[in-house]
Amino acid sequence: MGEHRAHRWLRWPSEPDRARLGFGADYNPEQWPREVWREDARAMRAAGVNIVSLAIFSWARLQPRAEEWDFAWLDEVMDLLHAYDIAVDLATATASPPPWLASTYPQILPVDRDGRVRWPGGRQHWRPTSPIFRRHALRLTRRLARRYGAHPALAAWHLSNELGCHNVYDYSDDAAAAFRAWLRTRYGTLAALNRAWATSFWSQHYSDWGQILPPRLATSYPNPTQQLDFKRFSSDALKEHLRAERDLLAELTPDIPVTTNFMVMGETNGMNYADWATEVDFVANDHYLTPGPQAYDELSFSANLTGNLAGGRPWFLMEHSTSAVNWQPVNLAKRPGQLARDSLTHVAHGADAVCFFQWRQSAAGAEKYHSAMIPHAGEDSDVFRAVTDLGATLRALAPVAGTPRSRARAAIVLDWDSWWAAELDSGPTDRLRYRQEALDWYSAFLDLGIRADVVPASAPLEQYDLLVAPILHVVPGALADRLRRYVTGGGHLVTTYFSGIVDEHNHVWLGGYPGALRDLLGIRIQEFAPLADGQTVGLDNGTTGTLWTDHIALTEPGTEILARYRNGDLAGRPALTRRVVGAGSAAYVSTRLGPAGLSTVLAELADRAGVHSELPGELRGRVELAVRGPYRFLISRTDQPVDAAPLGPADTVLLRATGVTVVRTPAGGRASHEAHPPQSGSGV
Ligand code: GLA
Repeated sequence: MGEHRAHRWLRWPSEPDRARLGFGADYNPEQWPREVWREDARAMRAAGVNIVSLAIFSWARLQPRAEEWDFAWLDEVMDLLHAYDIAVDLATATASPPPWLASTYPQILPVDRDGRVRWPGGRQHWRPTSPIFRRHALRLTRRLARRYGAHPALAAWHLSNELGCHNVYDYSDDAAAAFRAWLRTRYGTLAALNRAWATSFWSQHYSDWGQILPPRLATSYPNPTQQLDFKRFSSDALKEHLRAERDLLAELTPDIPVTTNFMVMGETNGMNYADWATEVDFVANDHYLTPGPQAYDELSFSANLTGNLAGGRPWFLMEHSTSAVNWQPVNLAKRPGQLARDSLTHVAHGADAVCFFQWRQSAAGAEKYHSAMIPHAGEDSDVFRAVTDLGATLRALAPVAGTPRSRARAAIVLDWDSWWAAELDSGPTDRLRYRQEALDWYSAFLDLGIRADVVPASAPLEQYDLLVAPILHVVPGALADRLRRYVTGGGHLVTTYFSGIVDEHNHVWLGGYPGALRDLLGIRIQEFAPLADGQTVGLDNGTTGTLWTDHIALTEPGTEILARYRNGDLAGRPALTRRVVGAGSAAYVSTRLGPAGLSTVLAELADRAGVHSELPGELRGRVELAVRGPYRFLISRTDQPVDAAPLGPADTVLLRATGVTVVRTPAGGRASHEAHPPQSGSGV
């Protein structure tokens, strides 16, 4: 990871040094008559709200025509919020262009890979590379900075909104021109690009930069390196927009920190946040639950990754939901107690602010069925009571504010290049899901009660004793070297099927799989053997594999077989291997085992790495432990309340909410980044 900008947290308008957790929401007063605004401010105070994100979708209201501006309403709202001591995370309001802009300049509209224009009518209909859009967005940003830069309510700038939520992949002519410029910077010469893209294949050799296009709808699979580079470029193009707004704000209002809300959640992968995290003063994230058996694990996984993208420093949960969303096939309401449980999971992983989309549930528009802090039913509602309770809970947790999250001894690597490349078309199977495999490992850690960080590949990996790098598909030479040094230096590396296969240009490392990691793992695979839908394979450790198998040959004398296939074409052959190298080891898991199977495998691998649970036996699997300095969060993994007792006799209980207990370990107690002996199951 690059150097972080100096970490600057919110500029709280009053008592700037008082420790507190942020609590609030997106606030969209433009959807309501003025009479409601004062009611809003009063109810916000009643609920304990201390910050709102304002003007996110206000462009058309602020600038109804090219040369007409209307700030009076926003002046009034800013002043009102300030009068109630509510800080403002003020948007640059550039997320969604107004109708006049799109109709005057239809060339700002994004184009999909089939060549279809994305018309106005929704939101975020702009090309990240459009010079016209950029000019108008910066004009608005400048106006807002000049008008509100010194407003006493202003706590931070909120750049755009969820950059790339709807417009990450644009195949327009603007995108084509910007893609070519990006490629020139990356490769320097056409010859280098032709080599990297392997254009000798299918007669694709380029003789002029102007011939290069984004991977638009083609007769067959577009060139895989072109596709991978387009993903890298598209992430960079949005990052350039972020930088353009940020640099302007840094010039006009150097004392105000800037952030933008990431979408570290579910399968969203268009933006390489490992690369973006250093561009903002503090990291902010939006998270919505993915329904299913791993919903809570996924929430924790995302919060954990966000905390590590933030370099362990506090971050801002900019949006989540008080109850149902409106954009899933079926939108589930939250259960009693879940609001606090979900919110505190984010706090446990370093969030110093808990905010929602949105303050008051819309009466009309595309999100009228999305929950909010004040639902359609009004303040006399279970949701608003839960919100108010959460406000009180967060006040009780104020001492936690500012405390960095504490590193675990184990980590799971999440690598955007591998995510992108492993899921491209024309691979051995289109059933592979990169993030799901990583999440399954995370669930296995939780099942065993072992804390694990989720980190980008650029993180300092050597600080972990156990490193799981699932489907680490793209392994440039430098990464292979780092992993070799990690293992010989005493680290315990675990990787899986389809790892080590290609270099940064998506070219296969020849000589047998897993390519760049072959020697380190002490194995060689001649051919992949993915499984058909519904096909399974038993292993002699009692687990069952799906999706993938490998025909593994051992190449180094010290490589040990931890499990063999029990049936199928590979019966009797190795399925799981481990090789001791220097002071460390390198292990390989050749099939998809799912959370239960991985728990079995991980129990052995973690034990051999000397990494153990810090939880008493009876809590393991049922409770997640997350640590911020002296604060330990015990979070129920189920909907059942868990009496998560303190971890030690000297721990004091700071807070006990449904499904969450927070304890404080006394000063001089264990530092969580130190090695812990396994806890005895004494039930302390
Ligand atoms: C995103 C957006 C919000 C809202 C929510 C709904 O996070 O940023 O404006 O649309 O989704 O879940």
